[in-house]
Amino acid sequence: MLDVESIRRDFPILNKGVIYLDSAASSLTPEQVVLKEMEFYREYRANVERGVHRFSQRASEEYENAHDEVARFIGAKGRENVAMISNTTEGINLVANSMDWSKDDKIVTTVIEHHSNFITWLRVKQRYGPEVEVVKSSIEGIFDLGDFEKAIDDSTKIVAVTHVSNVLGCIVPVKEIAGIAHDHGAKILVDGAQGVPHIKTDVLESKVDFLAFSGHKMLGPTGSGGLYISDTELEATEPLCIGGGTIADVSIDDYTLAVPPMKYEAGTPAIAQVIGFGEACRYLNRVGMENVEAWDLKLANRLLDGLSEIEGVEVFGPKNPRQRVGLATFNIEGMNPHDTALTLDQEYDIAVRSGHHCALPLMKELFKADEGNARASTYLYNTLEEIDILISAVEEIARY
Ligand SMILES: Cc1ncc(COP(=O)(O)O)c(C=O)c1O
Repeated sequence: MLDVESIRRDFPILNKGVIYLDSAASSLTPEQVVLKEMEFYREYRANVERGVHRFSQRASEEYENAHDEVARFIGAKGRENVAMISNTTEGINLVANSMDWSKDDKIVTTVIEHHSNFITWLRVKQRYGPEVEVVKSSIEGIFDLGDFEKAIDDSTKIVAVTHVSNVLGCIVPVKEIAGIAHDHGAKILVDGAQGVPHIKTDVLESKVDFLAFSGHKMLGPTGSGGLYISDTELEATEPLCIGGGTIADVSIDDYTLAVPPMKYEAGTPAIAQVIGFGEACRYLNRVGMENVEAWDLKLANRLLDGLSEIEGVEVFGPKNPRQRVGLATFNIEGMNPHDTALTLDQEYDIAVRSGHHCALPLMKELFKADEGNARASTYLYNTLEEIDILISAVEEIARY
């Protein structure tokens, strides 16, 4: 079991008097990651893969080690399968822009997607004409796999689904959906922004073709993220940008791209962030993702039980905590979610997010309302006592 008190000592920001329940937007960063980034600036600040001098050599070594660490963290075969990018959004855009599209193609996605994994595909439709079919879930975010079987056919080029909804907290059966996609020769892209931080990830086991995820949601620095590309897709997947750092050779009228991952990392990369991201994966590995998952379930249980029992509070997402991560969206009857979040911040020192959470299709189609809701999202440094304080605060606000 995870030792939350010892973990909390690695996050001095937790001493600022705020109960941080907004990790789904961006997690906090432990000292180990902050220090690793500072080490780069203090000890070997130089560009990577470009210099023979010692600073550049050391920076390159740390940069490459970070790739290995991130690749291992998601169960990838090697560093060539993971491009370091700035966030999940960039990863999804890279894949969408790299494919050749025609109006006879089909894209299958779902109603619970974050805008990053939704409008990217709508733009492909607007530009090149493929159909975008949107699979619906129940109001709790539970899918019927039969709906994917109906939607995915031989014209489907890609299935783009999230692993975990940032609004409902529900866990989507991506491995089963990958199986259906592959039966029809379609690729599968998983939005791992909320899944990778909370659930042990094994890309080889789930057989996904692409997995986009954000370092800043899993203890890493802002500006860090990863895109996993399976072996079979590495050759065909084009970089979003090319230029310095991405080539094997250039002549006056031609060029050859470097081998992956370098072909995806154009220009001077976010070196400190990538090195910090590697350290974040090291940290999570030390804690153990199975321990993160177990703690998450405890927090989810307490959050769900507590909020559901308050009169005048509606809680969204699956009723069964085993079908979700430690994240709950809710509304207090008669209260705008932004007012709820503001009151929690100003009067109770609790940070939660409010609004549509970049998931307007979900708000409009499932909830028939677009003003959104308030969201409390946890991570490994949150305690059960903090959840109890949130529940008492929401109870008090709902009462008056
Ligand atoms: C499910 C999901 N997908 C994609 C994103 C976009 O992540 P980023 O802003 O790091 O690109 C988020 C961010 O909240 C998310 O929750």
